[in-house]
Amino acid sequence: MRFIISKSIRSANHLRKYFYRNRNISPQSADRTLLKKFNSQRPLGPMPKICYAPWQNLFFNTNGEGIMCCKNTKVVLGKYPQNSIHEIWFSQKKELLQNAINNNDLSKGCFKCYDAIKQNSISSMTSIFYDKYGLLPQTNYPRVLEFELSNRCNLACIMCSERVSSSIAKQKDESYKHQEIYDEEFVNQLDEFIPHLWEAKFFGGEPFLIDIYYKIWDKIIERKPRTKIVVQTNATFLNDKIKKLIQKGNFVLSVSLDSVNKENYERIRKNANFEKTIENIHWFGKRQKDLGVIATPFRENWKDIPDIIRFCNEHEYHLNFSTVYYPTNLAFWTWDTGSLKKILDLYKSIELPQKNNAQRKNKNSFLELISTIENWYESKLKNENFNEEFLGYISDQQIQIDDESVLKVNGKNIAEAKEKFFKNAKNLNKNEFEKLIQKFQPQTFSLPVDIVYLELISVDISTIIDVINKSDEAEISRKIKNIFNKASTKYIYEV
Ligand SMILES: C[S@@+](CC[C@H](N)C(=O)[O-])C[C@H]1O[C@@H](n2cnc3c(N)ncnc32)[C@H](O)[C@@H]1O
Ligand code: SF4
Repeated sequence: MRFIISKSIRSANHLRKYFYRNRNISPQSADRTLLKKFNSQRPLGPMPKICYAPWQNLFFNTNGEGIMCCKNTKVVLGKYPQNSIHEIWFSQKKELLQNAINNNDLSKGCFKCYDAIKQNSISSMTSIFYDKYGLLPQTNYPRVLEFELSNRCNLACIMCSERVSSSIAKQKDESYKHQEIYDEEFVNQLDEFIPHLWEAKFFGGEPFLIDIYYKIWDKIIERKPRTKIVVQTNATFLNDKIKKLIQKGNFVLSVSLDSVNKENYERIRKNANFEKTIENIHWFGKRQKDLGVIATPFRENWKDIPDIIRFCNEHEYHLNFSTVYYPTNLAFWTWDTGSLKKILDLYKSIELPQKNNAQRKNKNSFLELISTIENWYESKLKNENFNEEFLGYISDQQIQIDDESVLKVNGKNIAEAKEKFFKNAKNLNKNEFEKLIQKFQPQTFSLPVDIVYLELISVDISTIIDVINKSDEAEISRKIKNIFNKASTKYIYEV
């Protein structure tokens, strides 16, 4: 049955490619060209929505929070155990996010996907993963559940954090006591969701060390055995219990590997043993064709990336890269342009074969990594405030979206606010002021920059004139950006 559905999805995609080829997703969009380009590059072809996660996915993180996907940490739908899984999934906030996505508005916490689109780094984008569910008939329940239920981990990798590694938490605070939020009751509540599940994904901590996962796996295998169970593991240990379990369920493994040089690997992955990890990876690889490998490129291992690709090519493993935004002192995006140029020079000098699927996939992942670094490099050359601005843009500060605080606005409301603003601002040169506002490029597809007028109508005009007179252009631009960002979290724009 599933085969027939996926076959019909493929043929429907060919049709949609034809129909959508020349259609703009949103006529209001400020970034129409970018959006069109993104659609033309989606592996399954153009789709009506930018992302299907708000209809298909629910992610639980180590704090008990239920969110739309692992990348949007800004909008929390609810929190376990205060809210049940049912309450979290059926929260009104989900509808508000659906509304935003329907309008191609990625300003409600979806900056990582927006950034990936801008940087032409499409294939490893989180949103792309949900495309395959986009054409299926809509159900009231998610087809995908993602679990990051515990930070229990045996390693203390140098780029990771205490939020997902209990070993790092212990390193930072000796008195740290590991506490689980999710309990037996959580597993029981999954009964309502499992019949609708197609895919369940498990992150950590280290998934094979997290007791509650074994209970959930048993339940899935018993109730809906064909559900794909995806596990992201550090591959540091593998015992008979795990081996048996993997043969029983429909497991799909993805392993982490940040260097194929023993010394570097063990320096990055503290407490791990290189030879053991490689042995385990090959055990998984023998059992699973197209084994997934995730490498996390950052300042410590940038020279090792080409060798990781060669290793994956040799064994036909499929490589993806995990972009490091934090910690900022290890990430590429904060590095000076000289260092980024060095990375680019090395990476661009490398020729990669494309003889089979794995090699083609790995080359594509590598080209996207280069494109991401190149974008940061060029942005830094153009803008000396890049680090500061990018940090503000990616900050994990949560967006308060709830029924009371969010206001739905449309073009008419904005035009009225603008008219009211200029009526009160007689001393302001309208044309010059509008030019200042229009210079600012919003980091979103469809929120018009004019939403700032909704905020500006409540600011004293003399304060605005004072800012204009006393500040340089960069300072004014920063102020407009702050007003825009504030407005973008307060309003849902309806096309
Ligand atoms: C947090 S780990 C959890 C699963 C498992 N412990 C593992 O290492 O595969 C998931 C993935 O995130 C990657 N990762 C760790 N720190 C990261 C960071 N600061 N930025 C981006 N990815 C990171 C890891 O390398 C790994 O591939
Ligand atoms: S193994 Fe995974 S969760 Fe553990 S410290 Fe390393 S990256 Fe973080």
